[in-house]
Amino acid sequence: MSTNVNLFSPIQVGAYTLPNRLVMAPLTRNRAGDGNVPGPMNVTYYVQRASAGLIITEATQVSPQGQGYAYTPGIHSPEQVAGWRLVTDAVHEHGGRIFLQMWHVGRISHPSLQPDEALPVAPSALKPAGEAMTFSGLQPFVTPRALETDEIPGIIEQYRQGAENALAAGFDGVEIHGANGYLLDQFLRDGTNKRTDKYGGSVENRARLHLEVTEAVVGVWGAERVGIRLSPSSTFNDMSDSNPEETFGYLVEALNRFNLAYLHLIEGNESDIRHGGKVVPTSYFRSIYKGILMTNGGFDQQTADELIAAGGADLISFGKLFIANPDLPERFRLNASLNEPDPSTFYGGAEKGYIDYPALALQAG
Ligand SMILES: Cc1cc2nc3c(=O)[nH]c(=O)nc-3n(C[C@H](O)[C@H](O)[C@H](O)COP(=O)(O)O)c2cc1C
Repeated sequence: MSTNVNLFSPIQVGAYTLPNRLVMAPLTRNRAGDGNVPGPMNVTYYVQRASAGLIITEATQVSPQGQGYAYTPGIHSPEQVAGWRLVTDAVHEHGGRIFLQMWHVGRISHPSLQPDEALPVAPSALKPAGEAMTFSGLQPFVTPRALETDEIPGIIEQYRQGAENALAAGFDGVEIHGANGYLLDQFLRDGTNKRTDKYGGSVENRARLHLEVTEAVVGVWGAERVGIRLSPSSTFNDMSDSNPEETFGYLVEALNRFNLAYLHLIEGNESDIRHGGKVVPTSYFRSIYKGILMTNGGFDQQTADELIAAGGADLISFGKLFIANPDLPERFRLNASLNEPDPSTFYGGAEKGYIDYPALALQAG
């Protein structure tokens, strides 16, 4: 059934009334300063995008162990909290709302990025195919160390502390990064989880860490200020699952109990199909999940409006379009032309390709 609802229809999402349904997707840009501290350039970048219904920040490590790439910001030191406070204050001054995406990369790291050059940690000692993006360039992944069962409370504590720090940094909420082959996703899917303790084997066991982390974060923020992101079809970071409908169906159903601000899904893409992944679309989860559903992946204004009008999702997040178009809502509203994103400046560098994409008024002037 089609409705008159579109991207510009306001919507209640947890504790917030969003003025539109265009969300800025989390986007790693590898431009944090020394000590993984957000700086003035990051403030400018987020302020430029404050007209989004909601900004979700780039993935941000909750602990030194959670880091997997060079120049990604953290939320574990006082300096990082102070740096993020500049971002959140400025976004609020410009009328925006901003959630922090909380990240632990698990095995998608490298000893050179880890405290004391330790091995990255993971559910099981399985080396991902591919290379880590370190401070000295790309280096092959290593075989991670499998976490002991008695270390898991310490992992949950890293998220809980990260949530406390995000509160101190002035965010409006947090999104738990449960997607894209990082630690929580590694526990969830059976391609990366070969454990025999209560965190491995059955889908109930593999989903346990996701749910325990969600509970801990909700304990800090309250459910109406917490979202979670999942990628049921993604093969990125060498991920696989033998039965994604069952695995993700179970977790999505279990998440209903929290009454979170939203569930954020990523649609499968061409690359997932090429890598032999089974695509499970957002539509599969629509009836399983009872709350606000956000989806993402390859949308433009027309496909987003159509999906929202048809009731297939409540919110759409845009990644690459928000990189290139700081004023994306305004451009959509006016049916204006869009700037093209430049992939060569996505990860790392300085102002170029980060804060120099023009807004409409500047272009016209
Ligand atoms: C440069 C870049 C960085 C990304 N960083 C993150 C990230 O930090 N966290 C995350 O969950 N997804 C990340 N993604 C995935 C995007 O959030 C999004 O799912 C993807 O770009 C597809 O949406 P789009 O077609 O609207 O760009 C990243 C994507 C790109 C292109």
